[in-house]
Amino acid sequence: MTRLKEYREGLTSFVSADVQHYTEKEGQPTADMPVFYNPKMCINRDISVIFLSEYLSRWDIDLLCEPLAGSGVRTLRYLNECQGSHRAVMFDVNPEAVHIIQQNIEENHLSERATVIQGDARLLLLSESREKRFDFVDVDPFGTPVPYLNAAVQALNPTGALLSLTATDMPALCGVYPPVAFRKYGGFSIRSPISHEIAIRLLLGVSYSVTGANDRSMSPLAVLSTDHYVRVWLRVESSRKTSNRQAKEIGWLRHCPRCMNTDLVSLREGLEDEFNHCRDDCQYDPKAAGPLWIGSLCDAEFVQEAYKKVSEYKLHKKSSRLIQLMSQEAPLTEAPYIDIHAICDSYRLTPPSNAELIAVLTEQGLETTRTHFRPTALRTEASPCEVVRAIHKIKGVAIQNG
Ligand SMILES: C[S@@+](CC[C@H](N)C(=O)[O-])C[C@H]1O[C@@H](n2cnc3c(N)ncnc32)[C@H](O)[C@@H]1O
Ligand SMILES: [Zn+2]
Repeated sequence: MTRLKEYREGLTSFVSADVQHYTEKEGQPTADMPVFYNPKMCINRDISVIFLSEYLSRWDIDLLCEPLAGSGVRTLRYLNECQGSHRAVMFDVNPEAVHIIQQNIEENHLSERATVIQGDARLLLLSESREKRFDFVDVDPFGTPVPYLNAAVQALNPTGALLSLTATDMPALCGVYPPVAFRKYGGFSIRSPISHEIAIRLLLGVSYSVTGANDRSMSPLAVLSTDHYVRVWLRVESSRKTSNRQAKEIGWLRHCPRCMNTDLVSLREGLEDEFNHCRDDCQYDPKAAGPLWIGSLCDAEFVQEAYKKVSEYKLHKKSSRLIQLMSQEAPLTEAPYIDIHAICDSYRLTPPSNAELIAVLTEQGLETTRTHFRPTALRTEASPCEVVRAIHKIKGVAIQNG
């Protein structure tokens, strides 16, 4: 008999397999648990509740689908905590998870609005959306969401829908296994101080390809990056024209590990496009990640409006802080974040404080903020070379040939 425990997240109570009991050996939840639940993902779900609420204030959702539901906590929170009469269908291949989800639906008095089906998500996404397509599909698997992506896109309402994808295969996405990233995401990853930026852009890149292959366009509404996973929220619409236009948003991210310059070039321009180094004496061959998404990472207004809703919800302190940082950096996500400590390591300088560097760049008329991606990094209108020069100025050091 599975040992169960009652949990609470936000305003929602539910039961799942006792995490402490089943994680004694590994120290963290694994796929071997009788029913999967990871309390640490509460922050992911908190932020998802806020973004769904913001989405609901702009677009209608009648039916949402969570194809890999685990205990069902995510969908239960969407139904309990986001205003509206939206309904939900959940799938899980694990019969025990399905049993627990059914119990959780009943305990939360949601039988009128939620159903659960046992089976393979890829098949159910297609078969269960035949009569009525989903207005929101939330793919939250173990590892990569890519195997579910085509079915998820085809299951979406063609008049416009929300698609969320979580990826936890960080070694592939962050440059430990570049060929694995290429095989799964269609782009190479590289090891670098901006590996999480690359991870998000690879996930957006494959989302562009699969939505495009299905005659849909996609616009990133928001992205979330943590040490253990990345997540994206996309508005998907039926538009071949927009998708054709977005072809220019696929390209390369180039990075010089010596002088720390980074740029984004469209696939059409190609890698022959000259790369500028921050020092004249830097001859290093830049490393290239991609092909990946080189467009903006979010809809700034969407994220900023979502942040205004935070006080209305019961969230983990960390979740509110993350959304605040996301809203600050939102207008500056066209260019990759810049890691100040990595620059200082490379130039053998003691890093200035974020506040000091933000003040100097802002004084130069270059908008600059912190980023939720990394505490040691900034988003800025300044180029990486301008940031390198600003740091040298603060430290009173002349940059060689800079
Ligand atoms: C990471 S957990 C889901 C966590 C859940 N979304 C949450 O927020 O708590 C992944 C779930 O996918 C289920 N699963 C794995 N492969 C599946 C498949 N092919 N079809 C349906 N469910 C699957 C597992 O049983 C597990 O419950
Ligand atoms: Zn260089």
